[in-house]
Amino acid sequence: MIYNQFYKSHNSNYLMFKEQIISILAKETRLRKEELNNLIEIPPNPELGDYSFPCFILSKREKKAPNIIAEHFAKQIKPTKNIEKITSAGPYLNFFINKKALAENILKINSNFGKSNIGKKHKIVIDFSAPNIGKPMHIGHIRSTILGDSLMRIYDFLNYNPIGINYLGDTGLHIGKLIIAYELWLDKKAIKKSPVEELLRLYVKFCEHEKSEVSEGADADEEFTNNEWTNKAKEKLKLLELGDKKTHEIWQEIHEASGKGFDKVYSLLNVNFTETTGQSKFSVKGKEIVMNALKKAIAKREEDGAVYVQIDKNNPELKKYILRSNQTASYITQDLGAAVERNKKYKFDKMIYVTDFRQEGHFSALFNILKTLGYDFSDKLFHLGFGTVKFGNEIIASRTGKIILLEDVLNKTIEKAKQEITKRKTKGNPEKVGVGAIKYIILKNEPIKDVQFSWEQALSFEGNTGPYLQYSYARASSIIKKAKNKNFNKGKLNISKYNLAKEEIALIKKISDFPEIVIQAGDKMNPSLLANYSHELAQVFNEFYHNCPVINADNKEQEAFRLKLVDAFRTTLKNALHLLGIEVMDEM
Ligand code: ARG
Repeated sequence: MIYNQFYKSHNSNYLMFKEQIISILAKETRLRKEELNNLIEIPPNPELGDYSFPCFILSKREKKAPNIIAEHFAKQIKPTKNIEKITSAGPYLNFFINKKALAENILKINSNFGKSNIGKKHKIVIDFSAPNIGKPMHIGHIRSTILGDSLMRIYDFLNYNPIGINYLGDTGLHIGKLIIAYELWLDKKAIKKSPVEELLRLYVKFCEHEKSEVSEGADADEEFTNNEWTNKAKEKLKLLELGDKKTHEIWQEIHEASGKGFDKVYSLLNVNFTETTGQSKFSVKGKEIVMNALKKAIAKREEDGAVYVQIDKNNPELKKYILRSNQTASYITQDLGAAVERNKKYKFDKMIYVTDFRQEGHFSALFNILKTLGYDFSDKLFHLGFGTVKFGNEIIASRTGKIILLEDVLNKTIEKAKQEITKRKTKGNPEKVGVGAIKYIILKNEPIKDVQFSWEQALSFEGNTGPYLQYSYARASSIIKKAKNKNFNKGKLNISKYNLAKEEIALIKKISDFPEIVIQAGDKMNPSLLANYSHELAQVFNEFYHNCPVINADNKEQEAFRLKLVDAFRTTLKNALHLLGIEVMDEM
């Protein structure tokens, strides 16, 4: 993050305090603001202060021990209205901020809390979800879908202009396989009744004949060189690319049938795209680029006609094929075409591809080739690779046993949420609880880490889970509903004489952190920061709730203040969960 850009575009409260500390320190230490921003820490114990600056870094320049430097500054720097005390503790210089001033800011929070203009409408293209037609969406695609959707929401909140592209795997060897299976074994009744299952049955049957693994990814299909069935599939693919009418009609039917299945999932997850497109649209453009690469001698041709690029100059064996020997486009051919077309269409400032980490090699080759070809935008491309979703012992029976069906996972989770809600005799909405639970268990893990999926854990109302957060929100809502004072939100509250309890201060500070966490999550393409922040926020709220009576407060003034605080908590949690794509309920 660029320090200046960040603070200039930011009008939020808590940051104001940190910014003031940075300004003071910049003057006193002559360090750059950006550097100070990274050096300042939050002490482990609030009694030590709200922010602290470790003085080690100055020791060499000043030729003094860090303790001495800290002591000197503690005397030298005068308190201000917002920073009421400055002390030293060993090598640390500690700052105490004025909690009342902070509390006053919290009372002004509205539904826009956390938004900022850091994005200035810069365009970020996010390529996510991207399931393969003819194959059912699997759990890897759900991770991409949920992660990409959360990034869309975060960038939108920060006033970027996010563009979500669903790049369907609508061609490739698996389509050749499916078309053959369709011609040979289609059950017409079955495809009407349950299209996704019938297509899967056809695909699995083909793989049995070919003696290949049933694969999930786009370029994961094994390409046997001397296999009668693989060869047939390759021929079909060629017919399709040449525009053969009958082949194209079957392709269309497969496209429609699986599209229905995808749409069901997207509507359940409440995920939208700016644009839905497919690999097949970029074969021609991709081949054009390949020809250009040949002309410029960046790519070379094998005797059999296949075209490749040498990725590593020192390792001539390392070849990345960008065109098949029968001159059909492959996964990377189309990605070359798609990237160039997208740059032309959107002139993006950044493009993020969200896929399984195993595609790392594919994307680094892609970016590399684009750079070698002289496309400047190649520096704006990022691959956000994510880890595996592991199911432990709770394998879901699907007919192949190998592919875990996304729709099954979703439906089963919603069913289990329903049982839990009935057992607890609460009023939650099973769909919101179930979908929220799945999104949360996925997003709370850093993208690159594996997810250990377990229903028991995902749906628990305690711990770091989606339902726990939704429940905390509902609890706060019920306090507000029960309050006799319905006008707490009107008029100005004077808190100058109010004594803040330690749980109140902790909650105020936590709420105040939110805007910075949103920015970090966007910066690092990491929604788990927001998920874990939400959990901490709810924990601090529950501490407050158990120690600071709201409805039975000591007096009217205290009640009004606490109600406002509860309301600010609600707004913050709602916004944080919104960025994860999780909906809240007033009752649960
Ligand atoms: N369809 C691919 C898969 O399922 C993912 C596509 C990702 N996007 C891209 N531009 N390659 O593995």
